[in-house]
Amino acid sequence: MYPTLLTSLQDNILTITINRPDKLNALNKQVFDDLDAVFDEVYTNVEIRSVIITGSGSKSFVAGADILEFKDFTQEQGKRLSERGHEVFFKIENSPKPVIAAVNGFALGGGCELAMSCHIRIASRNAKFGQPEVNLGLIPGYGGTQRLAHLIGKAKALELLFSAAIINAEEALNLKLVNYVVEESELINKATELLQLINTKSAHAIAQCVVAANAVLDKRKSGYSVEADTFAICFQSPEMKEGVSAFLEKRKPNFKATK
Ligand code: COA
Repeated sequence: MYPTLLTSLQDNILTITINRPDKLNALNKQVFDDLDAVFDEVYTNVEIRSVIITGSGSKSFVAGADILEFKDFTQEQGKRLSERGHEVFFKIENSPKPVIAAVNGFALGGGCELAMSCHIRIASRNAKFGQPEVNLGLIPGYGGTQRLAHLIGKAKALELLFSAAIINAEEALNLKLVNYVVEESELINKATELLQLINTKSAHAIAQCVVAANAVLDKRKSGYSVEADTFAICFQSPEMKEGVSAFLEKRKPNFKATK
Protein backbone atom coordinates (compact mmCIF):
# COMPACT_ATOMS: atom_id res chain seq x y z
CA MET A 1 0.00 0.00 0.00
CA TYR A 2 2.92 2.35 0.77
CA PRO A 3 5.90 1.92 -1.59
CA THR A 4 8.56 2.49 1.10
CA LEU A 5 6.77 1.27 4.24
CA LEU A 6 5.59 -2.04 5.63
CA THR A 7 2.65 -1.81 8.01
CA SER A 8 0.94 -4.28 10.29
CA LEU A 9 -1.90 -3.76 12.73
CA GLN A 10 -2.13 -6.03 15.74
CA ASP A 11 -3.82 -5.43 19.11
CA ASN A 12 -4.67 -1.89 17.93
CA ILE A 13 -0.93 -1.14 17.54
CA LEU A 14 0.19 -0.11 14.06
CA THR A 15 3.81 -1.05 13.34
CA ILE A 16 5.36 1.03 10.57
CA THR A 17 8.63 -0.30 9.17
CA ILE A 18 10.65 1.97 6.91
CA ASN A 19 11.69 -0.37 4.17
CA ARG A 20 14.69 0.70 2.09
CA PRO A 21 17.25 -1.68 3.64
CA ASP A 22 19.70 -1.39 0.71
CA LYS A 23 19.96 2.37 1.48
CA LEU A 24 19.89 1.84 5.26
CA ASN A 25 16.30 3.21 5.16
CA ALA A 26 17.42 6.73 4.15
CA LEU A 27 14.55 9.22 3.91
CA ASN A 28 13.78 10.18 0.32
CA LYS A 29 10.76 12.08 -1.02
CA GLN A 30 8.71 8.90 -1.29
CA VAL A 31 9.34 7.99 2.37
CA PHE A 32 8.06 11.44 3.40
CA ASP A 33 4.97 11.06 1.20
CA ASP A 34 4.35 7.60 2.66
CA LEU A 35 4.81 8.73 6.29
CA ASP A 36 2.46 11.65 5.62
CA ALA A 37 -0.19 9.30 4.21
CA VAL A 38 0.16 6.61 6.88
CA PHE A 39 -0.25 9.23 9.62
CA ASP A 40 -3.51 10.35 7.99
CA GLU A 41 -4.57 6.76 8.64
CA VAL A 42 -3.23 6.89 12.22
CA TYR A 43 -5.21 10.06 12.93
CA THR A 44 -8.49 8.77 11.50
CA ASN A 45 -8.64 4.98 11.91
CA VAL A 46 -10.25 4.14 15.27
CA GLU A 47 -8.74 0.64 15.12
CA ILE A 48 -5.30 2.23 15.59
CA ARG A 49 -4.65 3.27 19.20
CA SER A 50 -0.87 3.60 19.08
CA VAL A 51 2.11 3.29 16.74
CA ILE A 52 5.60 1.80 16.57
CA ILE A 53 8.05 3.14 13.97
CA THR A 54 11.10 1.02 13.19
CA GLY A 55 13.55 0.31 10.36
CA SER A 56 13.92 -2.68 8.09
CA GLY A 57 16.88 -4.99 8.71
CA SER A 58 19.05 -5.18 11.81
CA LYS A 59 21.63 -2.55 10.88
CA SER A 60 19.71 0.67 10.58
CA PHE A 61 16.68 2.52 11.88
CA VAL A 62 17.20 5.37 9.39
CA ALA A 63 20.68 6.50 8.25
CA GLY A 64 19.53 10.03 7.45
CA ALA A 65 18.05 12.05 4.65
CA ASP A 66 18.81 10.58 1.23
CA ILE A 67 22.04 12.39 0.39
CA LEU A 68 21.86 11.46 -3.30
CA GLU A 69 18.51 13.17 -3.66
CA PHE A 70 19.61 16.62 -2.46
CA LYS A 71 23.21 16.74 -3.67
CA ASP A 72 22.48 19.34 -6.39
CA PHE A 73 19.75 21.30 -4.60
CA THR A 74 19.56 25.10 -4.74
CA GLN A 75 18.93 27.20 -1.63
CA GLU A 76 15.22 27.38 -2.50
CA GLN A 77 14.97 23.60 -2.91
CA GLY A 78 16.83 23.17 0.39
CA LYS A 79 14.25 25.38 2.10
CA ARG A 80 11.37 23.38 0.66
CA LEU A 81 13.01 20.10 1.70
CA SER A 82 13.39 21.36 5.27
CA GLU A 83 9.79 22.62 5.38
CA ARG A 84 8.49 19.30 4.09
CA GLY A 85 10.48 17.52 6.81
CA HIS A 86 9.04 19.88 9.43
CA GLU A 87 5.50 19.28 8.18
CA VAL A 88 5.69 15.48 8.29
CA PHE A 89 7.57 15.31 11.60
CA PHE A 90 5.13 17.78 13.22
CA LYS A 91 2.37 15.45 12.10
CA ILE A 92 4.10 12.58 13.93
CA GLU A 93 4.88 14.70 17.01
CA ASN A 94 1.29 15.96 17.19
CA SER A 95 -0.25 12.54 16.65
CA PRO A 96 -3.13 12.15 19.10
CA LYS A 97 -2.07 8.52 19.47
CA PRO A 98 1.22 7.56 21.17
CA VAL A 99 4.15 6.91 18.81
CA ILE A 100 7.22 4.94 19.92
CA ALA A 101 10.41 4.88 17.85
CA ALA A 102 11.93 1.40 18.14
CA VAL A 103 15.48 2.31 17.15
CA ASN A 104 17.14 -0.81 15.77
CA GLY A 105 20.53 0.48 14.53
CA PHE A 106 21.76 3.72 12.96
CA ALA A 107 19.60 6.77 13.74
CA LEU A 108 21.70 9.41 12.07
CA GLY A 109 20.76 12.83 10.74
CA GLY A 110 17.13 12.67 9.62
CA GLY A 111 16.89 9.28 11.36
CA CYS A 112 17.71 10.82 14.72
CA GLU A 113 15.30 13.64 13.88
CA LEU A 114 12.55 11.15 13.04
CA ALA A 115 13.14 9.31 16.32
CA MET A 116 13.01 12.63 18.22
CA SER A 117 9.67 13.53 16.63
CA CYS A 118 8.21 10.35 18.16
CA HIS A 119 6.83 10.58 21.70
CA ILE A 120 9.06 7.88 23.20
CA ARG A 121 12.28 6.22 22.02
CA ILE A 122 13.39 2.68 22.83
CA ALA A 123 16.81 1.64 21.52
CA SER A 124 18.32 -1.74 20.86
CA ARG A 125 21.80 -2.24 22.32
CA ASN A 126 23.40 -1.80 18.86
CA ALA A 127 21.65 1.54 18.14
CA LYS A 128 23.74 4.59 17.24
CA PHE A 129 22.59 8.19 17.33
CA GLY A 130 24.04 11.36 15.88
CA GLN A 131 23.60 14.47 13.79
CA PRO A 132 26.56 14.21 11.41
CA GLU A 133 25.34 16.93 9.01
CA VAL A 134 28.34 19.22 9.63
CA ASN A 135 30.45 16.52 7.97
CA LEU A 136 28.49 17.37 4.81
CA GLY A 137 28.64 21.12 5.36
CA LEU A 138 25.01 21.05 6.44
CA ILE A 139 22.93 21.33 9.57
CA PRO A 140 19.93 19.25 10.59
CA GLY A 141 16.90 20.42 8.62
CA TYR A 142 14.05 18.34 10.01
CA GLY A 143 13.77 19.89 13.46
CA GLY A 144 16.96 18.39 14.93
CA THR A 145 18.43 21.69 16.12
CA GLN A 146 15.26 22.33 18.12
CA ARG A 147 14.26 18.90 19.41
CA LEU A 148 17.78 17.76 20.37
CA ALA A 149 18.28 20.85 22.54
CA HIS A 150 14.87 20.32 24.09
CA LEU A 151 15.51 16.66 24.89
CA ILE A 152 19.12 16.72 26.13
CA GLY A 153 19.81 20.40 26.86
CA LYS A 154 21.37 23.07 24.68
CA ALA A 155 25.04 22.64 25.61
CA LYS A 156 25.14 18.88 25.03
CA ALA A 157 23.05 19.29 21.87
CA LEU A 158 25.48 21.85 20.49
CA GLU A 159 28.40 19.55 21.33
CA LEU A 160 26.81 16.75 19.27
CA LEU A 161 25.87 19.12 16.43
CA PHE A 162 29.34 20.73 16.32
CA SER A 163 31.30 17.47 16.59
CA ALA A 164 29.08 15.16 14.47
CA ALA A 165 29.77 12.60 17.21
CA ILE A 166 27.99 9.27 16.91
CA ILE A 167 26.91 8.00 20.33
CA ASN A 168 25.90 4.51 21.33
CA ALA A 169 22.66 3.42 22.99
CA GLU A 170 24.02 3.59 26.58
CA GLU A 171 25.23 7.15 26.04
CA ALA A 172 21.86 8.04 24.53
CA LEU A 173 20.20 6.61 27.65
CA ASN A 174 22.48 8.64 29.93
CA LEU A 175 21.58 11.78 27.99
CA LYS A 176 17.86 10.91 28.28
CA LEU A 177 17.60 10.82 24.50
CA VAL A 178 16.02 7.36 24.84
CA ASN A 179 13.71 5.92 27.49
CA TYR A 180 15.10 2.36 27.47
CA VAL A 181 17.87 0.25 25.99
CA VAL A 182 17.06 -3.41 25.40
CA GLU A 183 18.50 -6.41 23.57
CA GLU A 184 17.83 -6.35 19.84
CA SER A 185 15.54 -9.39 20.09
CA GLU A 186 13.45 -7.63 22.78
CA LEU A 187 13.01 -4.29 21.02
CA ILE A 188 9.57 -4.74 19.49
CA ASN A 189 8.35 -6.70 22.54
CA LYS A 190 9.32 -3.85 24.87
CA ALA A 191 7.59 -1.25 22.69
CA THR A 192 4.52 -3.47 22.36
CA GLU A 193 4.31 -4.11 26.11
CA LEU A 194 4.47 -0.40 26.88
CA LEU A 195 1.81 0.40 24.27
CA GLN A 196 -0.44 -2.42 25.49
CA LEU A 197 -0.40 -0.74 28.89
CA ILE A 198 -0.96 2.73 27.41
CA ASN A 199 -3.79 1.38 25.24
CA THR A 200 -5.79 0.53 28.38
CA LYS A 201 -5.81 4.22 29.41
CA SER A 202 -8.15 6.97 28.27
CA ALA A 203 -7.41 7.69 24.59
CA HIS A 204 -9.01 11.10 24.98
CA ALA A 205 -6.82 12.06 27.92
CA ILE A 206 -3.69 10.77 26.13
CA ALA A 207 -4.44 12.96 23.12
CA GLN A 208 -4.72 15.95 25.47
CA CYS A 209 -1.35 15.02 27.07
CA VAL A 210 0.21 15.28 23.60
CA VAL A 211 -1.29 18.72 22.98
CA ALA A 212 -0.22 20.02 26.38
CA ALA A 213 3.30 18.51 26.36
CA ASN A 214 3.97 19.80 22.85
CA ALA A 215 2.90 23.31 23.81
CA VAL A 216 6.26 23.82 25.51
CA LEU A 217 7.85 23.78 22.04
CA ASP A 218 5.30 26.14 20.54
CA LYS A 219 6.61 29.62 21.28
CA ARG A 220 3.34 31.21 20.14
CA LYS A 221 1.44 30.05 23.21
CA SER A 222 2.25 29.59 26.88
CA GLY A 223 2.48 25.90 27.76
CA TYR A 224 0.65 26.58 31.01
CA SER A 225 -2.33 28.14 29.27
CA VAL A 226 -2.49 25.22 26.82
CA GLU A 227 -2.29 22.85 29.79
CA ALA A 228 -5.23 24.63 31.42
CA ASP A 229 -7.24 24.45 28.18
CA THR A 230 -6.55 20.76 27.56
CA PHE A 231 -7.17 19.94 31.24
CA ALA A 232 -10.52 21.70 30.96
CA ILE A 233 -11.43 19.84 27.73
CA CYS A 234 -11.12 16.54 29.64
CA PHE A 235 -14.02 17.53 31.89
CA GLN A 236 -16.47 17.28 29.01
CA SER A 237 -15.30 13.85 27.88
CA PRO A 238 -17.26 10.67 28.61
CA GLU A 239 -13.91 9.00 29.36
CA MET A 240 -13.25 11.29 32.29
CA LYS A 241 -16.71 10.59 33.65
CA GLU A 242 -16.06 6.85 33.26
CA GLY A 243 -12.56 7.06 34.82
CA VAL A 244 -13.75 9.02 37.84
CA SER A 245 -16.87 6.88 38.31
CA ALA A 246 -14.78 3.70 38.10
CA PHE A 247 -12.40 4.99 40.77
CA LEU A 248 -15.22 5.96 43.09
CA GLU A 249 -16.99 2.63 42.46
CA LYS A 250 -13.71 0.73 43.09
CA ARG A 251 -13.70 -0.94 39.67
CA LYS A 252 -11.48 -0.79 36.57
CA PRO A 253 -12.44 1.86 34.02
CA ASN A 254 -13.80 0.71 30.68
CA PHE A 255 -12.39 3.17 28.14
CA LYS A 256 -13.74 2.83 24.62
CA ALA A 257 -11.78 4.27 21.68
CA THR A 258 -13.52 7.60 21.16
CA LYS A 259 -12.16 10.71 19.49
N1 COA B 1 21.63 8.75 1.99
C1 COA B 1 21.72 7.99 0.88
N2 COA B 1 22.27 6.78 0.87
C2 COA B 1 22.73 6.28 2.05
C3 COA B 1 22.66 7.02 3.23
C4 COA B 1 22.08 8.32 3.18
N3 COA B 1 21.95 9.08 4.27
N4 COA B 1 23.22 6.30 4.23
C5 COA B 1 23.61 5.15 3.67
N5 COA B 1 23.32 5.14 2.35
C6 COA B 1 23.58 4.08 1.36
C7 COA B 1 25.05 4.02 0.97
O1 COA B 1 25.33 4.98 -0.02
C8 COA B 1 25.15 2.60 0.47
O2 COA B 1 24.58 2.54 -0.82
P1 COA B 1 25.32 1.71 -2.02
O3 COA B 1 25.37 0.29 -1.49
O4 COA B 1 24.41 1.88 -3.17
O5 COA B 1 26.67 2.31 -2.14
C9 COA B 1 24.22 1.84 1.41
O6 COA B 1 23.32 2.82 1.94
C10 COA B 1 24.93 1.16 2.56
O7 COA B 1 25.69 2.15 3.25
P2 COA B 1 27.26 2.01 3.57
O8 COA B 1 27.82 3.37 3.75
O9 COA B 1 27.90 1.13 2.55
O10 COA B 1 27.22 1.23 4.96
P3 COA B 1 28.30 1.26 6.12
O11 COA B 1 27.90 0.19 7.07
O12 COA B 1 29.67 1.22 5.55
O13 COA B 1 28.13 2.68 6.83
C11 COA B 1 26.86 4.52 7.79
C12 COA B 1 26.93 3.00 7.51
C13 COA B 1 25.50 4.80 8.36
C14 COA B 1 27.95 4.89 8.82
C15 COA B 1 27.10 5.30 6.47
O14 COA B 1 26.23 4.79 5.49
C16 COA B 1 26.84 6.78 6.59
O15 COA B 1 27.68 7.51 7.13
N6 COA B 1 25.69 7.25 6.04
C17 COA B 1 25.37 8.66 6.00
C18 COA B 1 24.98 9.16 7.37
C19 COA B 1 24.69 10.65 7.30
O16 COA B 1 25.54 11.47 7.05
N7 COA B 1 23.42 11.00 7.52
C20 COA B 1 22.98 12.37 7.52
C21 COA B 1 22.50 12.73 6.16
S1 COA B 1 21.96 14.43 6.11
